[in-house]
Amino acid sequence: MKKTSLAPLLLLWLIWNLTGCKPTDKATGSREQEIGVTGKRGMVVSAHPEASRIGLEILQQGGNAYDAAVATGFALAVAYPVAGNIGGGGFLVYRKQDGETGTLDYREKAPKAASRDMYLDAQGNVMQDASTLGHLAVGVPGAVDGLVAMHQKLGSLPWAQVVQPAIDLARQGVVLTEREARLLNQGRPDFLKANKFTPHVVKDTPWQKGDVLPLPELARTLERIRDKGRAGFYEGETADLLVKEMERGGGIISHQDLEEYQSVWRPAITGTYRGYKVISMPPPSSGGIALLQLLKMVEPFNLSAWGWQQPKTVHLVVEAQRRVYADRAAYLGDPDFFKVPVVSLLDPDYLKTRMATFDMEQATPSTQVQEGQLLARESDQTTHYSIVDQWGNAASVTTTLNGNYGSKVVVEGAGFILNNEMDDFSVKPGVPNMFGLIGGEANAIAPGKRMLSSMTPTILEKDGKLFMVVGTPGGSTIITSVFQTILNVVDHGMGMQQAVAAPRFHHQWLPDRIQPEAQALSPQVREALQKKGHALQDRASYGAVDGILRQKNGSWEGGADPRGDDTALGY
Ligand code: GLY
Repeated sequence: MKKTSLAPLLLLWLIWNLTGCKPTDKATGSREQEIGVTGKRGMVVSAHPEASRIGLEILQQGGNAYDAAVATGFALAVAYPVAGNIGGGGFLVYRKQDGETGTLDYREKAPKAASRDMYLDAQGNVMQDASTLGHLAVGVPGAVDGLVAMHQKLGSLPWAQVVQPAIDLARQGVVLTEREARLLNQGRPDFLKANKFTPHVVKDTPWQKGDVLPLPELARTLERIRDKGRAGFYEGETADLLVKEMERGGGIISHQDLEEYQSVWRPAITGTYRGYKVISMPPPSSGGIALLQLLKMVEPFNLSAWGWQQPKTVHLVVEAQRRVYADRAAYLGDPDFFKVPVVSLLDPDYLKTRMATFDMEQATPSTQVQEGQLLARESDQTTHYSIVDQWGNAASVTTTLNGNYGSKVVVEGAGFILNNEMDDFSVKPGVPNMFGLIGGEANAIAPGKRMLSSMTPTILEKDGKLFMVVGTPGGSTIITSVFQTILNVVDHGMGMQQAVAAPRFHHQWLPDRIQPEAQALSPQVREALQKKGHALQDRASYGAVDGILRQKNGSWEGGADPRGDDTALGY
């Protein structure tokens, strides 16, 4: 039932380096498949064991995937404060048992008092930390409106039944894992800087694994949400506390911003890859478009024969990634404010022209890669969870505060942390945000606008049947992590657990370098890539891909990323 360790992968990597064997079943027939948790009826995979437990219990009580998604979302707000939230926002991609698909956008919005240059000083320079730390960094939260809307349209159990388990957990207090204790200790200086009082996430001595995080104020906030639904957050006591917190710290979110916040149902963005139907998140996420562009760009090549993490495979994937991230910077933003050229960006002829400069032998420097000329102008922290129920309904949900613990601002008296999502806007064209992403006009700040996201909750269908549910946190690396996980399964024959655990690499156009996790590329592959002109810079492990895969016998395999405390539970 628990995540698996990275040790088997490290061993494989060692064998691979010593023997030159390619570590895929398909390529060598020698790699033992590492199977994740399986369940015949349903599965919940999330970033925290308590949240997965609560989601599973809702399924076992007869709830559907969306009841479980709401319960898991609230549970993450309690048990996983680094990213789980009611003070942030997120996206749902759903596929119902009858094949109906859609998405819910409950992304944060810029407050009405926001303005294009609000993070620039008198000289036009970006003010350090202004869009990432403290009250001014906060976007109008969408999470509660989203969970209410999700339940109203798709849920089946009573609202109170799906909210109550998170309240019970908050009342008990959360027992910290080693990872969460470490992250809270790392966040301490910023918590103290961002708040005018000592919030519950700070204590005199360092947090240790096994300590209990007390959450009585959050429990009361959740009770108001249980009793009043969206009004329990956007009106009344919670709203008063949030607006007071803003006024105290120089923030700009008003009662009007809260009252007017609305999540939006949007059609899913869909495409195909090697016969699989890919269902993902449209703008204001860049994720779905970028993922479909990437898959289409690599589809003409036989990755399976080339092998996993081999020089040709990595080179192709990186070259596709750099072109897609250049498009992201130029063309993507909130569709309610900017006409995103979705059809043109996914046009097969356009994607062919994007890859026309691809050279099998040489890296194309990012300085020579700009956004494509569209053929026709046309009218570390986030968290993901995947759920499948006994009827085959699927929920793929990614939700975020943006950075770890968001803005670090805790709403005094209400016990929850606010996002720093404003940094996902392009604060100044050409200046990278906290993920090193560069943006342009499409993603400039405007009052009431949603900031561009990379979140890529995704569902795959095969032969008309649900096949995979997948997604991850990781800022700008989200898209490339979801992309590589799909390649791991479809092209490299991995199971779900193996696919999420496999080491990854990232390239996002700028900075112009491949960023591999420590075990992702063998010394020989690195050398081959350098010879093609690629620069490499190692990075610490990233993302936490949580997925569910249909097995041949119809059961579900959960893949819980061993990089975090992620947990798959099935029944
Ligand atoms: N805050 C990360 C994202 O939405 O991409």
